Amino acid sequence: MTQPKIDVLVPDSDRMWADIMELSSIVDDRSPGWSREVFSEPYKASRDWTLQRMRDAGLEASIDAAGNIVGRLAGKNPNAPAIMTGSHTDTVHSGGRFDGIVGVMGAIEAARMLQESGTRLTSDLIVVDFLGEEANPFGVSCIGSRAIAGVLDPTHLERQDADGVSMAAAMAKFGLDPAAAVAMAWKPSDVKSYIELHVEQGPMLENAGTEIGVVTSIAGIERLMAVFTGRADHAGTTPMDQRADALIAAAEAILTVERVGCGAPIHGVTTTGKIATGQGAFNVVPDSSTIWAEIRSIDPSWLSGARRRIADQIAEDAAKRGVEVAIDLLNDQDPVPASQSMQDTVARAADSLGLSWAAVPSGAGHDAAHMAHLGSMGMIFIPSRGGRSHCPDEWTDKEHLGSGVQVLTSTLINLDQA
Ligand code: GLV
Ligand code: MN
Ligand code: MN
Repeated sequence: MTQPKIDVLVPDSDRMWADIMELSSIVDDRSPGWSREVFSEPYKASRDWTLQRMRDAGLEASIDAAGNIVGRLAGKNPNAPAIMTGSHTDTVHSGGRFDGIVGVMGAIEAARMLQESGTRLTSDLIVVDFLGEEANPFGVSCIGSRAIAGVLDPTHLERQDADGVSMAAAMAKFGLDPAAAVAMAWKPSDVKSYIELHVEQGPMLENAGTEIGVVTSIAGIERLMAVFTGRADHAGTTPMDQRADALIAAAEAILTVERVGCGAPIHGVTTTGKIATGQGAFNVVPDSSTIWAEIRSIDPSWLSGARRRIADQIAEDAAKRGVEVAIDLLNDQDPVPASQSMQDTVARAADSLGLSWAAVPSGAGHDAAHMAHLGSMGMIFIPSRGGRSHCPDEWTDKEHLGSGVQVLTSTLINLDQA
């Protein structure tokens, strides 16, 4: 088959690196690492910076009702559906400088490369920085991409944080229009394809010495909150077999969560990310405890089976201890395969640039999973040092950034020509 011609454009890796480092200075400096959590003051300040970066890069950019920063580079045919790329710039608490940020700054760099080389696409190129990709205290992730894909619904807005504040209230305080965000839904005919550059956040590429990951599928995420209610008693006088210890029930549940994950097929994982207790004291048997856990896999049948097994086992074990448990199950997203045609396009771009690549699944969630509602979706991974992510040590080498942006740009050109 004859391949469409790919112009080899070379990114200015130093310029892109400088962007990443400059953005990383807009953070909450009261916590270690790089914290720019959704709805925080640093996040707000950073959005003006990113909007300006897009405009400086020649994009016609603005912020939509859901808080997404959307930049457009006009193509030759205003009637052609757009090609879209981007990611997010919010972080987890004490996160790193690369998760999401690489996809936004890489997309801006690609737009600059196209213009500087005089390459005008037929389709419009849309560069996007989606609002709030990371899971937030309301239990919602990917707010902006859900809105664009038309899958942000009123129940998301009603969710409350630990202080009883709704997500709708938090969005309004941040200057957004929650009702308009829920009403928003781009049409499938608006977007031909969505491609996202991201750091791998795991060790596979580095371990194999591979430069590019062609993402095959994005893991589904099931979440579980279990609230244990036992009975407070004197810790010195209550016999061990006459206690209803809520904290022990929670501890046993955490081990159940781990055990199911250890029995998972490849790429299935389980995590208890948080535990809370009541007031607590050395000398009182705990009467309340709550855990927050997650189950992830690219295999939908394992995922739903694991969720049921964990919930049933937790209920059975708690009952044996005389502890009541209320379990709240939440489906965050189902597994989403990347389009085969997008995988092929990315792999061909890597081949033509002489870069090694491997097909890899994504255990992390991404805005791309929601953009798949609108059209063909693909992702490009670049290595993460030591596989570390969601921590201050997150790191990706500048040369890998350059390779990733080069594959992204070639992929954009090929998608436009397809
Ligand atoms: C986002 O990074 C997630 O996978 O939770
Ligand atoms: Mn991310
Ligand atoms: Mn993340």
